Amino acid sequence: MRIDVLTLFPEMFSGVFSSSILGKAQERGIVDIHVTNFREFSESKHGTVDDTPYGGGGGMVLKPEPLFRAVEAIESGTKPRVILMCPQGKPYNQRLAEELAKEEHLVFICGHYEGYDERIRQFLVTDEISIGDYVLTGGELAAMVVIDSIVRLQPGALGNQMSAETDSFTTGLLEYPHYTRPAEFRGWKVPDILLSGHHANIERWRLKESLRRTRERRPELLEKLDLTEEMKQLLAELEQEEKKQGQSME
Ligand code: ADE
Repeated sequence: MRIDVLTLFPEMFSGVFSSSILGKAQERGIVDIHVTNFREFSESKHGTVDDTPYGGGGGMVLKPEPLFRAVEAIESGTKPRVILMCPQGKPYNQRLAEELAKEEHLVFICGHYEGYDERIRQFLVTDEISIGDYVLTGGELAAMVVIDSIVRLQPGALGNQMSAETDSFTTGLLEYPHYTRPAEFRGWKVPDILLSGHHANIERWRLKESLRRTRERRPELLEKLDLTEEMKQLLAELEQEEKKQGQSME
C-alpha cells in the first residue's frame, strides 16, 4: 500500500511515522508513506498557497493550483482515493478504516487555514473525513489518526494478527478486561476463571465481560449487532445479576 500526505507542515509527521507499528510497517515494506510539502507546487516565486476569499470576509483560503498540481504529480496509472481531512467530512469509524485499508493508494490532504477553495472539494477530492465533532488547528493530526488505524490493519503490520481481529469495534463489542502477572497485586486478585486453564469457560467469561462493558458504556453498539444465541443468554444473565443486586440494595 502507498500513502501520500500533502501538508504545509511535513515535520509534524516524522515522529509518528517513524515510531512503533507505523515505523516497523515501513521497514518491512508493508506500507510506503510519502509526506510532501505542497508549497513546492505553488506557481508563485514566494511559494504562495493561499489567498483572501472572493466576496470578502476574514481568513485565508487555500488556492486550487498547488493542490491540483501536487496530486497530479503523485498519480500513477490508477487513480488513488484523495481524502480531504476536515470537520465537515464523513465521521470516521472502524468500518471506514477497514474499507480504506483495502485500497492500494491513498492521498491525504491536510489544510491549516480558514478553508479550501470549493473546486478542490468538487473536482480533486474523492472523500472528506472528520475524526470527530471538534475543530483542530489543521488536518495533520486527523490524518495521522486515520493513517495509524489503516496501517495497523495491513496483513503483517501487527506482530499478532489476532490482536486486530479481536479489537473493540471490529467485533462490534468493546474488549473484555485483560490481566497479566502477578495473580494478586496489592490485594487485588485476577478473576479465578482466568487461572483455571479451562478454555471454553474463559471464552464464555470474556464474551460476557465484553457484553457487560458494551452495555454499560456504549449501549447503542449492542443495538446494531446481530446477537448470537450465546450472547442473548449472557445478556439475560447480566440482567438477572443486575436485578439481584438491585434487590440486595433495597
Ligand atoms: N481538521 C480540523 N478539524 C478536523 C477534524 N475534526 N477532523 C478532520 N480534520 C480536521
